[in-house]
Amino acid sequence: MSRAFYVTTPIYYVNDVPHIGHAYTTLAADVLARYRRLKGYEVFFLTGTDEHGQKVEKAANAAGETPQELADRVMKRFQALWEKLDISYTDFIRTTQERHKKGVSKIFKDVMEKGDIYLGEYEDWYCTPCETFWTETQLIDYKCPDCNRPTEKLKEESYFFRMSKYQEQLLAHIEANPDFIQPKSRRNEIISFVKEGLRDLSVSRTTFSWGIPVPGNDKHIIYVWFDALANYITALGYPEESGNFDKFWPVDAHLIGKDILRFHAVYWPTFLMAAGLPLPKKVFAHGWWTIEGQKMSKSLQNVVEPNMLVEKYGVDAVRYFLLREVPFGLDGDFSHSALVHRINSDLANDLGNLLNRSTAMLNKYFGGTVQAPADLTDMDLAYQEKTREMVRQVDMHLEELAFSKALQAIWEVVSAGNKYIDETAPWTLAKDPVQKERLATVMYCLLESQRIVYQLVSAFMPQTAVKALSYLGVTDAPNENGLRWGGLESGTQVTKAEALFPRIEEKAE
Ligand code: ME8
Ligand code: MG
Repeated sequence: MSRAFYVTTPIYYVNDVPHIGHAYTTLAADVLARYRRLKGYEVFFLTGTDEHGQKVEKAANAAGETPQELADRVMKRFQALWEKLDISYTDFIRTTQERHKKGVSKIFKDVMEKGDIYLGEYEDWYCTPCETFWTETQLIDYKCPDCNRPTEKLKEESYFFRMSKYQEQLLAHIEANPDFIQPKSRRNEIISFVKEGLRDLSVSRTTFSWGIPVPGNDKHIIYVWFDALANYITALGYPEESGNFDKFWPVDAHLIGKDILRFHAVYWPTFLMAAGLPLPKKVFAHGWWTIEGQKMSKSLQNVVEPNMLVEKYGVDAVRYFLLREVPFGLDGDFSHSALVHRINSDLANDLGNLLNRSTAMLNKYFGGTVQAPADLTDMDLAYQEKTREMVRQVDMHLEELAFSKALQAIWEVVSAGNKYIDETAPWTLAKDPVQKERLATVMYCLLESQRIVYQLVSAFMPQTAVKALSYLGVTDAPNENGLRWGGLESGTQVTKAEALFPRIEEKAE
């Protein structure tokens, strides 16, 4: 039986159009999905859109359309961007789909019948942009402590979820599972938050109508976060427990931004406890991107509109940059100059140049035909071992979602390759007919190391990997066996590579 791997992104609100923040989380999930597929896992990679709630209703009113029309229109923009960024999702869930609404009603009803959801009355301060209730003491100048925007006082009949009941159970779970909430600093934040005490949570609204009605009382609409979080299981067919739910739940990794950690690390696990379901294995909250030092805003968006970035720099350069530039978990700044710098140095100079030099030499010295290697020297063995070590390192780093470390480990072998050429000096060997076997061996090591490099690169830059592997005469899709040294067969015909990444003139930016 094959091993299963389930990874998710947040489902994005349709009142905003996609920007690089959304692209970032989705790219990270895509890399994990591609890597696990390469390793032979059966992968379920879920993304989608969050289409209910007051925020979406207000945006639709402002745009003079129905919420469903708004959702239909914006959802397509997300899907179009994911296509452009080569996002290999398995399923795209929309909270307005019947399968989702059915699942949410069922979960709500189950928890209500168990007594963990009850009818009460609510009086508190609500921040609509964040879709969050605050107590008066949490407010700062009557503004939302998260986004600093005005809040409004709401008093309404409301259903409550008995979150307080699960405080100790949640704490115990967090403490017993150090990998559950990552990175560590975020885990500590959640621990102190839970220790301060969990209040029962309002999980219905009566002030608007765009959402899923509470079963048996349709004056009430289910709270948008209760609705949204459930997407992670309704997409697996829940409440049907056979099939995908049985195969993929609990999820291996929920990838999210740090803005929505509390919903994923406190609300969601306690909902699951109440529903009697296993908790996620991992919730990873990555950091926040700014643009050229500034907060991302509607007016700045055009500068780094992901579609434009892809058109200008190419999809793989954007994929590489976002995951290489900033350690996953830390905040980062996007700048065009940093992107151009990475393209020129890492992609054009290091990666592209190595392939270019080595395929050109094989063509010059052996008509492009891979020769069987003779005995390996210490230098060859060191290069081989470095390549093998890279495979182990990438595996370990991706296990920890350390994307930039994984890329660094790959680039160490790329640099080692360029250095290996300088040290073995194939052009000198080529002058001496006695060294023909030695030259063949050097060429073999160079190409074989790169074949393995591109197996791993395929998770990050799929198009580049396909192109490079085809120059290397490899037609099989990247796979686990391909990670072993020795896969390149003698007699393989290698083509002289074109530049994978043409240099960009920095001053033009
Ligand atoms: O919160 N830097 O949706 P959302 C990094 N619908 N990541 C960013 C970012 C930035 N500047 N801006 C956005 C919601 N993101 C809910 C989620 S899940 C059950 C419901 C990314 O459209 C990041 O992943 O506001 C963040 O968590 C997410 O977009 C928020 O997307
Ligand atoms: Mg948001």
